[in-house]
Amino acid sequence: MSKRVRTAVFPAGGLGTRFLPATKVIPKEMLALVDKPIIQYGVEEAVASGIEHVIFVTGRGKGAMEDHFDVSFELDATLERKGKRELLEISRKVSSLARVSYVRQKEPMGLGHAVLCAKQLVGDEPFAVILPDDVIDAPRPCIAQMMDVYNERQASVLATMTIEGPSISAYGVLAGAQDATNERLYDCTGMVEKPKFEEAPSKQAIIGRYILTPGIFETLERTGFGAGGELQLTDGILALLATEKVYGYTFEGRRFDAGDKFGMLQATVEFALKREEFGERFRAYLRNLPI
Ligand code: G1P
Repeated sequence: MSKRVRTAVFPAGGLGTRFLPATKVIPKEMLALVDKPIIQYGVEEAVASGIEHVIFVTGRGKGAMEDHFDVSFELDATLERKGKRELLEISRKVSSLARVSYVRQKEPMGLGHAVLCAKQLVGDEPFAVILPDDVIDAPRPCIAQMMDVYNERQASVLATMTIEGPSISAYGVLAGAQDATNERLYDCTGMVEKPKFEEAPSKQAIIGRYILTPGIFETLERTGFGAGGELQLTDGILALLATEKVYGYTFEGRRFDAGDKFGMLQATVEFALKREEFGERFRAYLRNLPI
């Protein structure tokens, strides 16, 4: 019988150098998008998709992230005493979202290495990988969309989007052909991590959402260090292609790179505009700016 996707791995060991100086002390996953740390968007997406167990692959200096998803006794007790019910709800909700486990990635040796660190905690079942920097605004959670594909095809699924021009070099890029019955699906034949623009096999860039079969652990264990001297998840998935099918899936929704200063600005404006409590006020403010 096929296994359900119950676990999501969040690689969160990176140094966040793209966001210095804000990330000198604060983990980049804790940067606030409007009023929530970016990692909470990913965890909420996972939970809304049916994920029950969340695994954070952390590293040095990431303690704030662990505290965020734990019970904050002093805060909750104070809010309770002062009768601040709504705020208490907000605080309690975070600590009760999902079952959370942590594993440390002792050295930042790449995304593939981070995923491999979660091997024992995941076990022999399919699982999701969510990169917290990639915040996705979608009508149906991106991971839920990908689970539909996994359940139908029983194979690994990688989220993709079309990237025009030289910026494709910042991504893993798929080679493959569109599926005959579903135009959002690509039947992968290959993939390359951060290719030169002239060498990119397509315009289909891998975005930070994956559903992987447990076979990935075995291929990662025998994959060497690749682009940037790191153990690349893309290279591990490429090795998996030798024995299993892998699909690219053009998800429905918009992705923001919140680990990047400009991406965070875009996400902040767009997410703020969607928020009822200041949507209209913020819209009026933007309209009146002298630009
Ligand atoms: C990682 C992956 C890359 C993927 C990207 C999506 O790269 O290695 O394949 O396209 O995430 O955000 P990073 O952005 O960590 O360098």
